[in-house]
Amino acid sequence: MALRDIVQDGDKILTKVCRPVEKFDSKLAALLDDMAETLKVADGVGLAAPQVGILRRVCIVDVGDGEGVLELINPEITVQSGKQSGAEGCLSFPNQYGVVERPMFVTVKAQNRNGEEFTVKGEGLKARAFCHEIDHLNGVVFKDRAERMLRPDEIETK
Ligand code: CO
Repeated sequence: MALRDIVQDGDKILTKVCRPVEKFDSKLAALLDDMAETLKVADGVGLAAPQVGILRRVCIVDVGDGEGVLELINPEITVQSGKQSGAEGCLSFPNQYGVVERPMFVTVKAQNRNGEEFTVKGEGLKARAFCHEIDHLNGVVFKDRAERMLRPDEIETK
């Protein structure tokens, strides 16, 4: 495994629409392993392939609920309901947070690293993370959806 550099604010790659994954090979496995390591070191909740410079429909989520890293290949939100509004950030936008409205519940259909289809449900932070990461695959970042950005004095330090 290896750490990958996280693309930062202003890089046009964050605005591109990613292509579906067609080959479930060792290259994909290496990408997923590297993304998991990169996410862990960066202490984030999710990471999308375009954030490490790869324009493919791959993202990972780990909300720290003990379920570990969830790998989503070619993910699609199939059901969403409810609403939540809260502060959201992104590893590509350090120290920037915005208030973003998201669904409270989502169901996501995706494939695993072997190409097998599965569905997963998320509520609260997990639903937010799914939406945020899938947005990345469509070239959309949280700032595009933010009602407003938080001022420095509104940001809680970890
Ligand atoms: Co992000």
